[in-house]
Amino acid sequence: MAGRAWFPELLEGDLVALRRHAPDNIAAFRRWYADPEVARLARYQETPMRVDEIERFFHVRALGEDSLTMAIHERATDRLVGSCSFSQVDGDNGSVMFHITIGEKDVWGRGYGTEATRLMLHHAFETLGLHRVALTVFEFNERAIRAYLRCGFVVEGRAREAIWRDGRWWDEVGMSILATEWQARRRRSGPDAPISTGTIAAP
Ligand SMILES: CC(C)(COP(=O)(O)OP(=O)(O)OC[C@H]1O[C@@H](n2cnc3c(N)ncnc32)[C@H](O)[C@@H]1OP(=O)(O)O)[C@@H](O)C(=O)NCCC(=O)NCCS
Repeated sequence: MAGRAWFPELLEGDLVALRRHAPDNIAAFRRWYADPEVARLARYQETPMRVDEIERFFHVRALGEDSLTMAIHERATDRLVGSCSFSQVDGDNGSVMFHITIGEKDVWGRGYGTEATRLMLHHAFETLGLHRVALTVFEFNERAIRAYLRCGFVVEGRAREAIWRDGRWWDEVGMSILATEWQARRRRSGPDAPISTGTIAAP
């Protein structure tokens, strides 16, 4: 699965369009990953990334060859609102880790994250033929957990008290979805069901 052949130009839903990152997207990364609220929800460290860390992260994760990372654009306006990716690509076992950040906080809760996740899962299972997509999420990140559950991820374990945040310990929750589970959901929704937020049955 190495190289760019597995890397789509465009994944399009009703609400969002996923496209390859352009070098200019670094400006958005600088804002998103310097935000304490984004850091609180998504980062092991309590403080946001330093500028040099963001630059390195952008070049390795968003533009690099080892991850499949897509920019999330609001479809109606084409505005860049976030980024999502597959990392730790394990071709031998057909497995990847999924990550997502909607960096523009004013569009949180509009279904964009759920649809972007579904588009990535569709690509993983229907185009790449992967077997498993996994992720980890902090247990206090209820918005993220709801979005993942809606897409068919199931909780497979917990790293107990792995995160110190807001003055107490929290678990880190491990979730995954298997190709068989994705296909079963697709069958329930009908073979021609679009990927959009409202059309694939919730668990
Ligand atoms: C997590 C994230 C990707 C979700 O994307 P989103 O577009 O905001 O979320 P969606 O609108 O698609 O779905 C959110 C779900 O949580 C619910 N929700 C919204 N706000 C919520 C809140 N404050 N608390 C709990 N649930 C909430 C919504 O009702 C929806 O669930 P439903 O479809 O069952 O009704 C996005 O919020 C984000 O990037 N956050 C910051 C970084 C982050 O947390 N990344 C994930 C790290 S694992």
